[in-house]
Amino acid sequence: MTQSGDALPEDLIRTLLEARRVVVLTGAGVSAESGIPTFREAQRGLWAQFDPMALASPEGFAANPARVWDWYQWRRQLIADSQPNPGHRALSELAAMTEHFCLVTQNVDGFHQLAGSADVLELHGNITRTICSRTRSPVFDDWLARHADRSPPPSPHHPEGLCRPDVVWFGEALDESVLSAAMDAAAQADLMIVAGTAGAVYPAAGLPALAAENGARVLDINPEITAISSRADWHLTGTSARWLPRLVAALAAESGLRA
Ligand code: OAD
Repeated sequence: MTQSGDALPEDLIRTLLEARRVVVLTGAGVSAESGIPTFREAQRGLWAQFDPMALASPEGFAANPARVWDWYQWRRQLIADSQPNPGHRALSELAAMTEHFCLVTQNVDGFHQLAGSADVLELHGNITRTICSRTRSPVFDDWLARHADRSPPPSPHHPEGLCRPDVVWFGEALDESVLSAAMDAAAQADLMIVAGTAGAVYPAAGLPALAAENGARVLDINPEITAISSRADWHLTGTSARWLPRLVAALAAESGLRA
């Protein structure tokens, strides 16, 4: 059912109150109110002419390492100039109110951690980390600072290696241990909250169905209807910065009433 007023469905609050295992899956939409463009909205400014899917790929990097590196440097600066929003902070608060809580994100901006969330499962990596394009060994800031004049900097780990962001590109495999932890959490969840994702990219997009197949109820928070919304038990129409704080406040009020 789709909710768009201000009130939260009673059965949703009751489910949240009774849930012992809550898993949250977030996408680019939860960082939209921090000013970070989502993938589906048009790229801004200088990068408007490029297709993000082409840039975020091994082929794109091989064809033009400088352009891809510069795009990620632009995104890193955008993130450095921004901050988590009330939606990120609400999830950090929700974790403290839940017996077993697991936050899985497709985002690479690190905002969940900045907002206080711990043990975040980053399915698509983290843009603030840099690795070698040949060995995938980590490259640290002192090396990057010493080679800031190069785009991209050479790798310290391999003579033909280049520096690249530690994110999953299209066509690349996800970290197996992170993915299996996310799948295990989804399969054991009582409630799965999905926020800010178009549900278009697998395997992340398959997690809500995996949770539902194992008995979880599913809540989707998105201004739009997506493939996930249409199968969810509840769809709250609107932004995550609006609904997630409301969800936490309702849980706190109900918990307080029943303490
Ligand atoms: P998308 O850009 O595909 O979708 C963003 C979703 O967030 C859309 O469904 C929007 O309706 C919704 N949205 C926008 N503003 C919102 C807000 N304020 N609150 C809540 N929802 C909002 O981003 P993702 O679904 O995260 O993959 O994309 C998944 C993956 O595709 C990304 O991780 C990336 C991309 O290609 C890789 O980089 C491997």
